Amino acid sequence: MSFLKRSAFAVLSAGCLSSASGGLTEQQTLDSNALDSLQASCDAISSLVSHASAVYYPSSPEYPKAIYHWSATNSINASCVIEPGTPQDVAIALQTLAFFKTPFAVKGGGHSCNPGFSSTKGVHIYMTRLNQVTVNKAEGTVDVGAGSIWSDVYAALEPHGIMLVGGRVPGPGVGGFILGGGLSWKSSQFGLAIDTLVSFELVLPDGTIRQVTSADDDLWFALKGGFNNFGIVTRFTLLSHPQTDIWAGLLLISADHYDAFRAAVVKYETDVKDTKAAIAPTFIVPSGSTTPMLAAVLFYDGPSPPSGIFDAFLAIPTVQGGVQAQSFLSFVKSLGSSVAAPPGHRNYYTGIPVLSYPSALIDVIYNETTFWAEHFAALDPTFSVTNAMEPFDSGLFSHGGPSAYPPDRSRALYPTNFAWAWTNASLDDAIHTALLESTKTVVAAAIALGQDLSNAATYANYALFGVPVENIYGDHLPRLQEIKKKYDPFGVMNLTGGFKF
Ligand SMILES: Cc1cc2nc3c(=O)[nH]c(=O)nc-3n(C[C@H](O)[C@H](O)[C@H](O)COP(=O)(O)OP(=O)(O)OC[C@H]3O[C@@H](n4cnc5c(N)ncnc54)[C@H](O)[C@@H]3O)c2cc1C
Ligand SMILES: *[C@@H]1O[C@H](CO)[C@@H](O)[C@H](O)[C@H]1NC(C)=O
Ligand SMILES: *[C@@H]1O[C@H](CO)[C@@H](O)[C@H](O)[C@H]1NC(C)=O
Ligand SMILES: *[C@@H]1O[C@H](CO)[C@@H](O)[C@H](O)[C@H]1NC(C)=O
Ligand SMILES: *[C@@H]1O[C@H](CO)[C@@H](O)[C@H](O)[C@H]1NC(C)=O
Repeated sequence: MSFLKRSAFAVLSAGCLSSASGGLTEQQTLDSNALDSLQASCDAISSLVSHASAVYYPSSPEYPKAIYHWSATNSINASCVIEPGTPQDVAIALQTLAFFKTPFAVKGGGHSCNPGFSSTKGVHIYMTRLNQVTVNKAEGTVDVGAGSIWSDVYAALEPHGIMLVGGRVPGPGVGGFILGGGLSWKSSQFGLAIDTLVSFELVLPDGTIRQVTSADDDLWFALKGGFNNFGIVTRFTLLSHPQTDIWAGLLLISADHYDAFRAAVVKYETDVKDTKAAIAPTFIVPSGSTTPMLAAVLFYDGPSPPSGIFDAFLAIPTVQGGVQAQSFLSFVKSLGSSVAAPPGHRNYYTGIPVLSYPSALIDVIYNETTFWAEHFAALDPTFSVTNAMEPFDSGLFSHGGPSAYPPDRSRALYPTNFAWAWTNASLDDAIHTALLESTKTVVAAAIALGQDLSNAATYANYALFGVPVENIYGDHLPRLQEIKKKYDPFGVMNLTGGFKF
């Protein structure tokens, strides 16, 4: 950085500390003064950051990819984009944004569907250049840049014969996934991604760069589930484990076999205690159809599963798909087409915490699938539903210490995921309302079946906007608010979207 740049930087930082307060929200309209300040902010960042970083505008060829999101519901044209190449440049950007009180977004993999959670009219920070993956063989850890995408991380790890607790399909980013908890094919075995953390590199709202470890009582707790409330994470250090070939695949089954499918889910959940096993039984109504399909991913963390545990699924005739021994990377890549996002794809998803999947609850989930698919397909023929049950081992939350999410680690919650897709934007509100209603219907049915869900937290990474933050963080919320006051007294991180403490 040149001397000139350094002095401008000092002025900005001083200004930031004395003047930043309050904070805009994404919803606030940007008047002409605000637009001037956006331009000033973009220009200042552009002149202050090092050559490792880039700033560009809507006319740039890099712009569409930088602001791209998996779901169009979380896509907004930003005034400018910054791609920081160093944590120092992240700090410069954050201090400048604080100084001008500029609304901004932090985008990792861009897989949140919630409007404004990683998109903005202001300054869009795209983390993609911070994508280094460094294997520390002796320590048994891996440093992962916070702008990485899980499938790329797996590709980098494969030659080393090791693996991390990460995303289940291609696409999601390391950043949001870990900061929201992180449920993996291996979570029955190793817990959430946050339970495998060794340290974070964090740029605090005042621009300080800090290594956060278990020695930092409050930030260590708060970042694990606390998303972007405490600053911008630039790197994660995670515990790795050895990886052999696995046995896994996706089965597509006709709804004619519903009874056998339901019985297989119940039997798996009742009988299987092997934490290397995982399943994701899913009800699907594809775009352009109202005919439901049954799908199940079967996963075993080894080249062949012990006999018996998946037999009930394997006995059902399939329309398509199959299970085989393969590398972890090849399996994850094979799921790419099942989560493809066609142009104009809008999506909301919700997390529905339950304690188990008895037959009667599976029936309710199936009925919610067909009912809403018929309802919305009549209004938008592209409407589709992917409602997934996610049973885990009862020790799911026993692998780590206190963290923002989950607020209660004494019992496992299965984070049932309903994901609905459409293209007609005028249906956004109706679908949002219906999805929350459907969530309530399933929770009410589980309670009626005897499940105690009175303090059941919604999984942070699946929570639909509009869900109260109390539902995600429970009794941890007051402590999180205290920690937020301490590290972000001027509300710099309030300038960006997300669940706010
Ligand atoms: C197809 C698909 C598959 C999924 N599979 C899984 C799964 O298997 N398991 C699971 O647990 N979840 C899964 N999810 C949910 C996913 O984990 C969350 O949406 C997650 O937040 C996405 O992270 P991201 O970086 O891609 O998203 P983004 O939209 O980029 O970010 C999400 C939030 O995190 C914040 N954030 C991102 N990076 C940083 C950073 N470096 N510092 C501070 N804040 C940051 C953003 O500001 C934003 O508020 C899936 C979602 C989709 C759409
Ligand atoms: C930041 O937002 C939270 C939640 O909306 C609010 O309670 C807090 O007062 C804000 N902080 C500042 C400094 O404005
Ligand atoms: C947003 O930017 C894209 C180019 O990336 C452009 O095609 C589109 O028209 C813009 N949308 C709005 C609403 O300005
Ligand atoms: C199916 O779900 C809809 C919407 O929740 C509900 O109105 C209807 O009563 C349900 N049908 C059955 C048979 O449970
Ligand atoms: C989108 O949905 C609205 C409301 O249902 C409807 O009026 C409109 O015609 C639809 N647009 C398209 C392109 O189908």
